[in-house]
Amino acid sequence: MINESLMDVDSEIFELIKLETQRQSQGVNLIASENYAYRAVLEAMGTSLSNKYAEGYPGKRYYSGCQYIDRIENIAIDRLKSLYKAEHVNVQPHSGAQANMAVYFAFLKPGDTILTMSLNCGGHLTHGSPVNFSGQIYNVIHYGVSRVNELIDYDEVRDLALRYRPKIIVAGASSYPRVIDSKIFGEIAKEVGSFFMFDMAHYAGLIAAGVYPSPVPFADFVTSTTHKTLRGPRGGIVLCKKEYAKDIDKSVFPGVQGGPLMHVIAAKAVAFKLAQTEDFVEYQKQVVKNSKVFAQTLQEEGFRIVSGGTDSHMFLVDLRGTALTGKEAEEILNEVEIYVNKNVIPFDPQPPRITSGIRIGTAAITTRGFKEEHVVELARLVSMVLKDVSKKEYVSKKVKEISSSFPVYY
Ligand SMILES: Cc1ncc(COP(=O)(O)O)c(C=O)c1O
Repeated sequence: MINESLMDVDSEIFELIKLETQRQSQGVNLIASENYAYRAVLEAMGTSLSNKYAEGYPGKRYYSGCQYIDRIENIAIDRLKSLYKAEHVNVQPHSGAQANMAVYFAFLKPGDTILTMSLNCGGHLTHGSPVNFSGQIYNVIHYGVSRVNELIDYDEVRDLALRYRPKIIVAGASSYPRVIDSKIFGEIAKEVGSFFMFDMAHYAGLIAAGVYPSPVPFADFVTSTTHKTLRGPRGGIVLCKKEYAKDIDKSVFPGVQGGPLMHVIAAKAVAFKLAQTEDFVEYQKQVVKNSKVFAQTLQEEGFRIVSGGTDSHMFLVDLRGTALTGKEAEEILNEVEIYVNKNVIPFDPQPPRITSGIRIGTAAITTRGFKEEHVVELARLVSMVLKDVSKKEYVSKKVKEISSSFPVYY
């Protein structure tokens, strides 16, 4: 059994994987948190490294037989440090949520105050949502965006920081399309004696390529996922100043995790290598160009874009004033194999299950090779079907045509 292939051992799962791979190439993926990982990354994950227990860190493991594992983790560490010019990094977090958990557990006690961006203005569940551990264990104060321009109001952040004296101020978001000024956040944190954590999960690839400002010089801790704009495997990382290295490492293991996923760490190392190439920089520049063109085309088609545009790989469409909620728009687009997600917009009158907006991201289509002219065509198709559902069949056919000219894995 040990040497039989998946196809022979489990045709049911084999077929479903095949169908999912087909779905990913047939449709158009505009989900801002997703991307297509490099084949090399996928290859590294499907290896014997998955078999190895390696609790601990290179040179200090609780298991024998770690000589190659140590080399792999050290390579991942060195590459990540040089990619972001970080003083210390930890490549073991299994996910973005666990990277955030590791920072909180290292520096907060239950009941301590954190100041974070509210979910309906773009923050993530792990930034203090009541349904997440972060909202249940800590005293959470939120800042939001201005009602006038839908941008972070740094005066509000400073006022709240002065009033509540949080232990950690958190910046970074899941659906904030604009540049976040880490320098100002860092200054506010210093002024009130807080730590400053930046969650760059969404912007990590853009930051690595220098097309979005890096928080690394200003933040005590930077957390991230590795599977969004960075195009690596599903996983998390923590970057921090040298003085916090021991506390962060202890918090990741044994604090919140057991054995590291070494096959994923190897795949992270591959992604960090590829993120240092000129191709990657060109790719990230194109991601942002595509995002801006997409938003602008929808604006020309009469849709309102939250904050009037984007500086990143994503933007939000405000559907109030159309006949559709975010949920309905997501469903219509899903039927023509354009994948987006419904998303709350700032001060959304609808609940999170319905929403008044959709979030659109260009990381995945840019990986496939979409350029501005294809994005304009795609945006017009999105507009057409959202304005008139009777155009579904036509749009569906067009989506298949565009998609087939950009094969994913072949
Ligand atoms: C800003 C931010 N932080 C953390 C996470 C959590 O990452 P994961 O799903 O890997 O736990 C996400 C995921 O979408 C995110 O957008």
